[in-house]
Amino acid sequence: MKAELERLRGEAEAALARAVSDHEIADIKARFLGKAGSIQATLKGLGKLPAVERPEAGRIANEVRQAVEAAVEGALTRVATEGRAREIATRIEDVTLVGRRPPVGALHPLTQTWYEIRAVFASLGFAVVDGPLVETDWYNFEALGVPADHPARDMQDTFFVEGGALLRTHTSPTQVRVMEREKPPIRIIAPGHVFRRDDDVTHSPEFQQVEGLWVDEHITFGDLKGVLAEFARRMFGAATKIRLRPSYFPFTEPSAEVDVSCLICGGRRTGCRVCKETGWLEILGAGSVDPLVFENVKYDPERVTGFAFGMGIERIAMLTFGISDIRLFYQNDVRFLRQFA
Ligand code: FA5
Repeated sequence: MKAELERLRGEAEAALARAVSDHEIADIKARFLGKAGSIQATLKGLGKLPAVERPEAGRIANEVRQAVEAAVEGALTRVATEGRAREIATRIEDVTLVGRRPPVGALHPLTQTWYEIRAVFASLGFAVVDGPLVETDWYNFEALGVPADHPARDMQDTFFVEGGALLRTHTSPTQVRVMEREKPPIRIIAPGHVFRRDDDVTHSPEFQQVEGLWVDEHITFGDLKGVLAEFARRMFGAATKIRLRPSYFPFTEPSAEVDVSCLICGGRRTGCRVCKETGWLEILGAGSVDPLVFENVKYDPERVTGFAFGMGIERIAMLTFGISDIRLFYQNDVRFLRQFA
C-alpha cells in the first residue's frame, strides 16, 4: 500500500506541474483527493492490512494527502502568476495617448447666487439664520397679519401636511421665530426653500427666497433703501439703480416692490426684451415691519422699528446669468449646469 500511495503522489504532482488552467487543476484535485478519488480508494484497503502495519500506513496516507493538497495550492499560484505575466507581455499600451480627465463637479448656479447674496449682506453685518420648511399656520400666516379669511392667502396657495401644518410659502415666518427668541437689535438674513401652487416659466412650485430683517430703535425706511441700493450695486454692478414702487404686504407698512435698472439695456429701454422696454426688473418685496407683527412677538412697537425684505434667489440668478426659464434650475441637466462651472 505504501508503494501504491507513493506512486499516486508522484502521478498527482506530475499532473499538477503540467496543468495550465484553474479548471484543469480542479479536475486533478478531484481525481486524486475527491471522495471517489484514487487516494481515498486506496485507503479503503487499510482495513485489510495486518493490525501492526495499519498505523504506519495511516501516517503515510496522511502525508501523501497533505503533499498533494500543497501541490494543488502551488499549481494554482503558478497558473495565476503565469497568466498575469502573459497578459502584461501581450498588452499593447499607447503611452502617448492623452489622459482622461475625471469629471469635476461645480456649484449649482443657485448656490453660487446665494453665496454672492450672503457675502454682500455679511459685509453689512447681517447674520444667517435657518427656519423650518414645514410650518404652522401661525408662523406662516396669522402672526404675519394674514388671518384665515384674508385674500392674501390665495396668492400663496400651498401644500398642506396632515394635522394642519403646511410647507412654508415664504421665508417670512423665520422673522417671527427669530424675534420670538431674541431681543432687538436683530440684523439677519434667512435663506431657504419655499413652496407654492405656482408653475410656469418664471414661477416654480418650489423655489428659494432670502428674507432680510433689521430691527432696532430708530431704524427707518431710509435705512431699507440704503441697504437695498448697496446690495444692488454690489450684486449687479456699480451703475445699478433701484426703484421702489408702492405695494402691499400684510406684515409691512408701508410696503414696496423693489426693481433694479435693467441689467441688459442698462435702463436705455429701446428694443430690450428682458425688461420689456420698461428699463426696470423686479427683484423683491419689502417694507417697514408692521406694528402688529411686533405685538405678536411681544416687542413694544412704540420703542422698536425695523424693515424686512424677501427676494427670490431664482429670479436673481435668472437676471445675472441671463436664463429665461426657471425650470432649468431643477431639471439637473448637466449640459445646462456645466455652463456655470
Ligand atoms: C413674499 O413672499 C414676501 N414674504 C416678501 C416680503 C418679505 C415682503 C418681507 C415684505 C417683507 P412675494 O410673494 O412677492 O413676497 O415673493 C417675493 C419674491 O419671491 C418675488 O419677488 C419673486 O422674486 C419670488 N417668487 C415668488 N413666487 C415665486 C415662484 N413661484 N417661483 C419663483 N420665484 C418666486
